[in-house]
Amino acid sequence: MTSSKNIRIFDTTLRDGEQTPGVTVSPDQKFEIAMKLDELGVDIIEAGFPVVSPGEIQAIRKIMKQGLRAEICGLARTTKNDIDVAIGSDLGYIHTFIATSDIHMQYKLKMSREQVLEKAIFAVEYAKKHGMIVEFSAEDATRSDREFLNKVFKAVAEVGADRIDIPDTVGYSTPQYMSKLVTDVINSTGLPVSVHCHNDFGLAVANSIAGFQVGAKCAHVTINGLGERAGNAALEELVMACQCLYKIEHNIKTELLYDVSKFVSSAMGIIVQPNKAIIGENAFGHESGIHTHGIINNPLTYEPISPELVGRKRWMQAGKHAGAHGIKAILDEFGITTTESQLKEIVERQKIIADAGKSITTSDLLSLASEVIKNKQFDESFKLNDFHIVTGLNIIPTAVVKLNIHDKDFIASETGVGPVDAALKAIQTIAHGIANIKIREYKLDSITGGSDALAEVSVKVEDKEGNIISARKSGKDIVVTSVQAMIDAINKTMLKKLIEKGNKVK
Ligand code: KIV
Ligand code: ZN
Repeated sequence: MTSSKNIRIFDTTLRDGEQTPGVTVSPDQKFEIAMKLDELGVDIIEAGFPVVSPGEIQAIRKIMKQGLRAEICGLARTTKNDIDVAIGSDLGYIHTFIATSDIHMQYKLKMSREQVLEKAIFAVEYAKKHGMIVEFSAEDATRSDREFLNKVFKAVAEVGADRIDIPDTVGYSTPQYMSKLVTDVINSTGLPVSVHCHNDFGLAVANSIAGFQVGAKCAHVTINGLGERAGNAALEELVMACQCLYKIEHNIKTELLYDVSKFVSSAMGIIVQPNKAIIGENAFGHESGIHTHGIINNPLTYEPISPELVGRKRWMQAGKHAGAHGIKAILDEFGITTTESQLKEIVERQKIIADAGKSITTSDLLSLASEVIKNKQFDESFKLNDFHIVTGLNIIPTAVVKLNIHDKDFIASETGVGPVDAALKAIQTIAHGIANIKIREYKLDSITGGSDALAEVSVKVEDKEGNIISARKSGKDIVVTSVQAMIDAINKTMLKKLIEKGNKVK
């Protein structure tokens, strides 16, 4: 529910986020991301910069037609043409900007202060005459002369701007300076103020919060902190800090954060760093014995927020820092009970592997446990009978996979972007209904050099309950190795399903 107390989230993943070096998304992908953002509960979606390309206009029109709950906005410079193109894209809300810092005016715009002021006034008046909602940004506001900046903001307010945005274009502000600017602008315009913070010094979220604390109503953010250079303020970090640390209300459905982050990462092809707050792979992972022990007794010991709040699950990692408590907790999850001496042996053996410099996947740990406990229930449910791949320059890669599951044969054929994709899709088609899994990560490394190099494939799959199971295989043939790693991960997922049905491995 939106209330006047709530801050507003202006998501610019589809505009500033798309300006991440090397990223472009197709109109269809933009549309899909916009649907996800709307579901997430963002208040405004900056869908693009219409004048940039016909594809941009096409995406914006398609998003506009959908009649989303979020307001949809598009970027325009302060030129008649940019604004006309934005109007022609069916938008009713534009975000228009011109730089106000001396360095931008002198070296980029080659304009005087008077000319910049004139253009800003023109753009706002022109867009308002065409019935648009207008948000005005003074680019590089935080490096602009404060008096001139206020003069520009006051002038655009007088000719009808609806909202004012303060961009910290190169992430140069401190929280203290942002507070001053926001206070100035609220006092001089009386309009709702937004902040648009870049992360060059890692202060984007802190600067946005400083804005909220003195009355800013809205922050421009991106999913995963995507954006030019070091990116923009990350939506997920800002929202969770507001909620948990500052008790500032918002309209985001936080339990969808992880899913939307994954979706955007895959659509935009930008992998999230593992130690990124809230959405990084390790944000709710625990390895060290001291930590896992604490977590098992009470998760609050080492988790400031509960993973479920952001759509995630806690996980424990085997490895050299892991102790008996952590290893036991992982094995417990798979219903594997051990004697004390078996557990001791498993812990010691996995430390030897870790000391040799190898990370230990869930599958490695379970295989180790199976060697120590020697129990039939570890037997694989999915067995690979055979597979065939067709691929080539003018052929759509196609895979036919034959599996045996609990003594019954299954066959499936799928196409993909490459042979590995086709084969893994065929496996998932067969597995559907038996072990519903999503591939969360697929990684291919070459261990040795040369065209006959040994490849190492790591996969992480997620089951319906959000459990992540990792497996790794190495071999000379990339497709065979990928298929084996995937089947191994599914087998370990199946083990977990057996346990859920009440079976115990002893
Ligand atoms: O960072 C910035 O200054 C911008 C403007 C277009 C508002 O993205
Ligand atoms: Zn920006």
